[in-house]
Amino acid sequence: MLDFTFTAPTRFVFGKASEQQAGTLCRAAGARKVLVVTGGGSARRSGLLDRVTGSLDGAGLPWLVLEGIRANPTDGPVYEGIRLARAEGADFLLAVGGGSVIDTAKAIALGAVRDGDFWDCYSGAAACTGALPVGVVLTIPASGSEGCGSSVITKGGLKRSATADALTPKFSILNPELTNTLPAYQTACGCVDMLSHCCERYFTKTPDADLTGRLGEAIMACIVKYAPIALAEPENYEARANLMWCGTLAHNNLTASGRQPDFACHRMEHELSALYDVAHGAGLAVVTPAWMKYVYQEDPLLFAHWGHVLFGLEIDCRDPARTARQAIARLEGFCRSLGMPARFADIGARAEDIPLLAKQCQRNNGAYCGFFRPLAEEDLVKIYEMML
Ligand code: NZQ
Ligand code: ZN
Repeated sequence: MLDFTFTAPTRFVFGKASEQQAGTLCRAAGARKVLVVTGGGSARRSGLLDRVTGSLDGAGLPWLVLEGIRANPTDGPVYEGIRLARAEGADFLLAVGGGSVIDTAKAIALGAVRDGDFWDCYSGAAACTGALPVGVVLTIPASGSEGCGSSVITKGGLKRSATADALTPKFSILNPELTNTLPAYQTACGCVDMLSHCCERYFTKTPDADLTGRLGEAIMACIVKYAPIALAEPENYEARANLMWCGTLAHNNLTASGRQPDFACHRMEHELSALYDVAHGAGLAVVTPAWMKYVYQEDPLLFAHWGHVLFGLEIDCRDPARTARQAIARLEGFCRSLGMPARFADIGARAEDIPLLAKQCQRNNGAYCGFFRPLAEEDLVKIYEMML
């Protein structure tokens, strides 16, 4: 087990009607004027936005709203939000939405207190040294952004992330009922994303981080159990509630404590969603099985055990690689059963772009991408080709 530091400072307020506490939570976090950031309309249509701003009114907090943040968020609304926050004197960002909204709010929070361009912290030119505080009302379990210090933004076709303690939300309101209105496709994308967040940390060469591995297994097993239930019964509270908490714990680094995570699949997927504007979880459904087929020989027993825990496979002790291949096939079947795409063409990706995708991915991650099996550019090309 490796040495590690684990910080989880976010206050999570979980349960029905918890968004009514938005005002008091903002006030308790020191807010004096709140910039509410939200997406393309779902929060307004459902009445959530009115409930949240009503709660801010109730707490005596002035507020303004930046609406229209789209999935795979870009730099434009970030610059607009920074201008607004400065012009209006907002000192607190409240994200009402999913990963795209939360990540935009974090980028605004970072940019509002920075002399230089916010993008420098995403391009790697500078470190994030401070930010306005951020709070969250989560509407889709997926990105885990509500419980971590990362933010992912696209600028000029490059999808890049910034990570800093200052970007970790002060509080996150998690009301599972808010996710009842999710389209099935988005529910499924979210489930694949959180499953991938666990896999990225589960497939590791670090030995002996046994507790960490078992925590990841528990989260993954819950996702596999509850994702089909949420799709069949969108208002099933237990399914929505379990998935919501899975999404947070899958990405707050609990399941990486003491071990080296990989994240090659995420890096490969970010190139896809940057180029084709595909939903992140859908891209991961295409990338992850291909990556697994390319790397499972590094530790067939780990993949076989994973298949046993998630899908009840009996491990072939004489030939664990056989069970590993079965496990990968079961993952593909699981993603298909959720209505997720499986091949390059399903997400509008093109074979002729593979050299560019691999080059971008490799260029932005040094000589190698990932750790479970460090991947050079030629490996990335082969993995992308396996998605055709
Ligand atoms: O914009 P609205 O109208 O709200 O619609 C959204 C959007 O179209 C809709 N939606 C959200 N909640 C809803 C709802 N529709 C009905 N009812 C609700 N309750 O869902 C669509 C997708 O929303 P989005 O915020 O894009 O989803 P997600 O949470 O999956 O976020 C994806 C983004 O997060 C990044 C991804 O790359 C992508 O850009 N990620 C961020 C991470 C982080 N900050 O640590 C890690 C992740 O690995 C990921 O990369
Ligand atoms: Zn993800």
